[in-house]
Amino acid sequence: MDVITTVQEMRRWRAGWPLGASVGLVPTMGYLHEGHLSLVRRACAENEGVVVSIFVNPIQFGAHEDLERYPRDLPRDLRLLEAQGVHAVFVPTAAEMYPPKFITYVEPSGPLASEAEGASRPGHFRGVATVVLKLLNLVQPQRAYFGQKDAQQVAVIKALVADLNLPVELVVMPTLREPDGLAMSSRNSYLSPQGRRAATVLYRALLAGKTAYEQYQSEDPAAIQRAMSEVVASEPLARLDYADVRDPGTFEPLERLRPPALLAIAAFVERARLIDNFLLRADGTWETGIIAS
Ligand code: PAF
Repeated sequence: MDVITTVQEMRRWRAGWPLGASVGLVPTMGYLHEGHLSLVRRACAENEGVVVSIFVNPIQFGAHEDLERYPRDLPRDLRLLEAQGVHAVFVPTAAEMYPPKFITYVEPSGPLASEAEGASRPGHFRGVATVVLKLLNLVQPQRAYFGQKDAQQVAVIKALVADLNLPVELVVMPTLREPDGLAMSSRNSYLSPQGRRAATVLYRALLAGKTAYEQYQSEDPAAIQRAMSEVVASEPLARLDYADVRDPGTFEPLERLRPPALLAIAAFVERARLIDNFLLRADGTWETGIIAS
């Protein structure tokens, strides 16, 4: 497994693959968990070469967010990736990705960029779209792998690929959950044992929203939002940011409850800001993630 730290080396590595060989990219910020590894396994099964990037992208963090304390453990990440049979890990520094003369950003617009996560984290999707485009240009993968847990990120990246005609297939994998339902996230490591127990409130709220949908099919999304909010309000260690019912493609709020729809939730538990979602697919079936055994 090659560990690559510079843009030049990354380009050279990619150029070493024969034309027509398929390469998959799994972009991450490291501190890998089983959710990341499910993307890596799929990438290894579908491609001849697999690159995993590990880069805590400073431009997608707001001024008062957790950039400095974001968890990092590169030696462990490298061991995990080596065991999966990954071919290269791209671990650039911030200065390598954003040299002093860097001036060009990708600016997604509209509700997709400015609502829900976009409202709570202004500039976040500009940072995500910019770094993902850079990684796609550097690695030139046939396929790139993302987790459904970051549903709005997935929608932003789908728009990026469509709008800028990028020659890459996006593969979106279901959210992986701990046995008690908590969505796997590197940020779960911020939680105390008490906070960790409280954090299942996001999953419980989504289940309550799904139940409300099943009961009130024809009613307006407010009933579902209320059902989700009430569950979060019952947990003293949690503070709701939003509990929404949105179009999964555009992230516009839905006025009528019809599939496809996304139940999306964000809440603070202690110092961690956590997000989660359930997807009601166009065919009326649910994508609620996979509980690890
Ligand atoms: O989902 C993430 O870990 C990040 O947002 C990504 C896609 C690697 C871009 O920095």
